Amino acid sequence: EVVKGVNGLEKIILREIRGSSAEVYLYGGHVTSWKNEHREELLFLSSKALFKPPKAIRGGIPICFPQFSNHGSLEPHGFARNRFWSIDTDPPPFPTSTSAKSFVDLILKPTEEDLKIWPHSFEFRLRVSLSPAGDLMLTSRIRNTNLDGKPFTFTFAYHTYFSVSDISEVRVEGLETLDYLDNLQNKERFTEQGDAITFESEVDKIYLGTPTKIAILDHEKKRTFVIRKDGLPDAVVWNPWEKKAKAMADFGDEEYKHMLCVEPAAVEKPITLKPGEEWRGRQELSAVPSSYCSGQ
Ligand code: BG6
Repeated sequence: EVVKGVNGLEKIILREIRGSSAEVYLYGGHVTSWKNEHREELLFLSSKALFKPPKAIRGGIPICFPQFSNHGSLEPHGFARNRFWSIDTDPPPFPTSTSAKSFVDLILKPTEEDLKIWPHSFEFRLRVSLSPAGDLMLTSRIRNTNLDGKPFTFTFAYHTYFSVSDISEVRVEGLETLDYLDNLQNKERFTEQGDAITFESEVDKIYLGTPTKIAILDHEKKRTFVIRKDGLPDAVVWNPWEKKAKAMADFGDEEYKHMLCVEPAAVEKPITLKPGEEWRGRQELSAVPSSYCSGQ
């Protein structure tokens, strides 16, 4: 179902029989909403999000490609998040079948203008699907379609903004004792000490070689987000906190309290594809009541 969203931009609404739903804008191939069966919103979307190209939408799940953040010479986070994607009417079959009945396939190919800033021909296929249980899955398949025989290299992230009740009450499990690059300290490498990660100031870190499962525990909401990922060894953790929040025009001054970005990513070791080769990167999100989680 394609409908008009904010500012007339087109979006696709996915619905599952038990009541969960998701919304995906063609602008950016950008998921802006994911609701559980109780119609509760699980992603953070800023009340000041602009929905005005070429600005990326603030919140939801921006796709960072072909460059994560400022790790390269392109604009921060690359250009996929501010291009118009198309519906892929004839996607090639998926190697593994998915049980989801509710999904949409999108495709992005570079325009002549894009080729001037990143001289590589590619096909980026994104499948967004909702399982009957309400889990949200994003699968990216990126193919090098260069005819000049040249490989290309990229970095990538699913810049997922989770909605949380109070950032001071949130813990992230699965990243303890790992190495990370700290964007707030010249991308220097450190090792995380101690227990689960908690938040009391700005954070902008790239955790390296992370496990395939990461959990965000929202104590106040009694909700745990479980992130499962494949093909994405790193995980970026970002919260702008008070000062940076105020400096962002499309972000409310107090909104940092109610969001946390945990972003499955491939940054430290960029991906290289030869012509004809395809890369896959997947994130699967579930939101479960905390009482169902071990140790809760
Ligand atoms: C995070 C980066 O992923 O995205 C941060 O690690 C950056 O450094 C943040 O500030 C937001 O980026 P943008 O371009 O959407 O404002």
